[in-house]
Amino acid sequence: MQFASRISRLEDKSMLDAFEIMETEDMISFSAGTPAPDTYPIDHIAEAFDRVLKQEGRQALSYCPTSGYKKLREIIAGRMAEKFKTTYTSDEIIITGGSQQGLDMSGMLFVNKGDVVLFETPSYLGAVNALRAHEAELVAIPTDREGIETEPLKHALDRYGERVKMVYVIPDFQNPTGRSWSDARRRHFMELMSHYDVPVIEDAAYSELSFDKELRKPLAWYDKKGQVIYIGTFSKTFCPGLRVAWLCARKEIMEKYLVLKNASDLSSPSISQRQMAYYLEHYSLDDHISEICAVYKRRCDVMIAALREHFPTQVTYEAPRGGLFIWATLPEGKDARELLLRAAEHKVAFMPGSSFYPSAAKNNEFRLNFSNVSEENVKKGIAILGGVINTYLQES
Ligand SMILES: Cc1ncc(COP(=O)(O)O)c(C=O)c1O
Repeated sequence: MQFASRISRLEDKSMLDAFEIMETEDMISFSAGTPAPDTYPIDHIAEAFDRVLKQEGRQALSYCPTSGYKKLREIIAGRMAEKFKTTYTSDEIIITGGSQQGLDMSGMLFVNKGDVVLFETPSYLGAVNALRAHEAELVAIPTDREGIETEPLKHALDRYGERVKMVYVIPDFQNPTGRSWSDARRRHFMELMSHYDVPVIEDAAYSELSFDKELRKPLAWYDKKGQVIYIGTFSKTFCPGLRVAWLCARKEIMEKYLVLKNASDLSSPSISQRQMAYYLEHYSLDDHISEICAVYKRRCDVMIAALREHFPTQVTYEAPRGGLFIWATLPEGKDARELLLRAAEHKVAFMPGSSFYPSAAKNNEFRLNFSNVSEENVKKGIAILGGVINTYLQES
C-alpha cells in the first residue's frame, strides 16, 4: 500500500514508547509528561458528570458549535485576563481536543510542504511531530537560561526569509528543560518578532504550574501586532483525559482556525466542555493547582536530593521552579539512549534527550519526570539509575 510522504517523517516513536512504558508493570518510569493521576479531583469530576448529564443531558450529548461551548470560552477569557492580563475575548478563543490539536491545526493553517518552522530547542516532541507531519523543514534555534537566543533567531529569520512560516516556543517551565524565559527575553523576543510577519505559537501548557505561585506575563501580553497564537490546556493543571484545551488568536486568524476545526472534527465533545465549565464554575481550579503544585514541588525536591546523593558529579542538572521535568546532561560523548537500554533492564525508564531536537540532536541529555512518580519510587528509581550511570561511565 502507498502511504503519504508525511508518514515517513514521523519515525521517532519515543512518545508512543513512553505511553507504553507507563503501562508496563513494575517499571519505575520517569518518561511521561503527565500530571499525577492520584491528584485528579475524582469526586468533583464525578459530580460534574452527573449534574451535566442530568441538567443538560440532551445538549451535552449533541453537537456543539465549532468554536466550543460559549460559557467555557467566557470563563477561560476571564481567567486569562485575571491571571495574565491578556485581552482576548471569548470570540477569540476556540476549544480544541487537547492543545495537540491546536498545534496540528496551526501546521495546517500556516505550513506548506518545505516551509520553515523555527523551534526553540530542545522542544516538545509532540510539536516536532505535528509540524513534521505537515512536511515542514524544522530549524533548531538554541536556548540559554533566559530563553530562546535572539541572535541566532534573527539570523534564521533573515536567512530563510519568506520561507519561515512560524516560530514555536514554550516560555514557561518548558518541556523538556523545565526552564522559564526571563521577562527581559520575552520583551526582546517580541520586539524582534514584531519586525517580521511571522506567527508566534506560544505553547503555555505549563504556565500555571509554578511552585512559588509567581506567574510571568505571556508573550501574548507583549504582542502589539496580534501575531501571537496562544495555546492553553487543562491537561496539566486538571486532567488530560477530558481533552479540553484552547487556542487564542485575533479575529481574522481565528476565522481560519474555525474553518479548519470544522473540517477536522466539527467540534470538540460538548459533554467534556460542559463538565469542565461546571467544574470551573462550582469549584476552585486555583485551589486545585495550589495543591498539585505542592505535591509536585515535594516530588521535585525529593528527586533533586536523590540526584545529589546518587548521581556522579559529571552529570549536571538544575532544579526547576515549576512544571514537571528535570533535564540532565551526561558528559560529552555519552549516549542517553544506550543508558536507557541499560536502565530498562533494571526497570527504570526516562526520556532520552535526542528525541526533543527537531534537528542536529545531542545524545548526551535526558529528561526526568517527577510529577507522575511517588516519592518512594522517586528515591528508589533514582538510586537504581545512579548505579546504572556509575557503571556506564566507568566502563566506557
Ligand atoms: C509543551 C506541551 N504542549 C502540548 C502538550 C499536549 O497536551 P494536550 O494535548 O494534552 O493538551 C504537551 C503534552 O505533553 C506538552 O508538553
